[in-house]
Amino acid sequence: LRQRAKRELLAITTQAALAEWYARYLGRRGELTQLLRALGTLPPEQRPIIGRLANELRDELQAAYEEREREVREIELAARIAAEAIDVTLPGRRPRIGTLHPVTQMIREVTDIFAHLGFQVVEGPEVEYGSYAFDALNIPPEHPARDVWDTIFIESDQKEIVLRPHTSPMQIRVMERRKPPVRVVVPGRCYRYEAVDATHEWHFHQIEGLAVDEQITMADLKGTLAEFARQLFGKERRVRFRCDFFPFVEPGVDFAIDCMFCRGEGCRVCGQSGWIEILGAGMVHPQVLRNVGYDPDRYTGWAFGMGVERLVMLRYGVPDIRYFYQGDLRFLAQFDRIP
Ligand code: PHE
Repeated sequence: LRQRAKRELLAITTQAALAEWYARYLGRRGELTQLLRALGTLPPEQRPIIGRLANELRDELQAAYEEREREVREIELAARIAAEAIDVTLPGRRPRIGTLHPVTQMIREVTDIFAHLGFQVVEGPEVEYGSYAFDALNIPPEHPARDVWDTIFIESDQKEIVLRPHTSPMQIRVMERRKPPVRVVVPGRCYRYEAVDATHEWHFHQIEGLAVDEQITMADLKGTLAEFARQLFGKERRVRFRCDFFPFVEPGVDFAIDCMFCRGEGCRVCGQSGWIEILGAGMVHPQVLRNVGYDPDRYTGWAFGMGVERLVMLRYGVPDIRYFYQGDLRFLAQFDRIP
């Protein structure tokens, strides 16, 4: 019994196993305890001798137990220190960092280009008065041109309130607040009540541009947009103006760049025309200038509005606008080169 108990004791390395051992030998139902209890059944002459031996054994095991207890405590501590040790020579684990949304990246790139051309970047409300979104922009109530912007209306008892269908209301807000010269670009989210498909989203982003001063002409518009297009899409870009209509500009134009995807016939981007339309623009309508208290005989200006998602799609060959807002990291993580 002595040898077995001691052998087992020395093999023990945890407090839990130690407690078990104690119960097995010295506990109330332990082997030795039972042995001591059985003394009474021995013949009287043997009791003192066996009793003494048994008591000695109990004291010995108790002492051995206590010593092992101290050792086990140290073993456990050493194991914990080893487990918690930091190996400073291990290579670090790289934290996963996010990337800016491709639309955010494009907004920064475009506004940077215009900032270098002397334009200030400003932002405005996405929930807008109908008077700013339409009336002040020379689109009167009941005018059919209003239908061009499939507007989402906000319920209101008083003034008409909409989710802005374009960033053009910021032309008014900016001009109302300052005197010429004005040079601003306005990035922002817009909303339209529209069926979603590969080229239409019910929310998207525009960047508005506005320059008003004495003697501003269409040549300034063309020169600025050409410089912009060349910085964004390559210095070899050629540009084209064609007539277009927007109630708040006169004349109005659509601005196109020569197609950089064409390889002879059958281009899927420009449909073989050789030109890609990238924005609407024009000379600010005299009535719009009057609406904000500017004298149209003294001041002229131009404005443009472009779709940001469309620019990203052209630049990277994204085939479907819906990818931008599905939150799919397989798509978004490809735009990891923050310019
Ligand atoms: N606001 C127009 C649109 O959303 C674009 C535009 C802006 C056209 C400025 C001319 C001048 O279609």
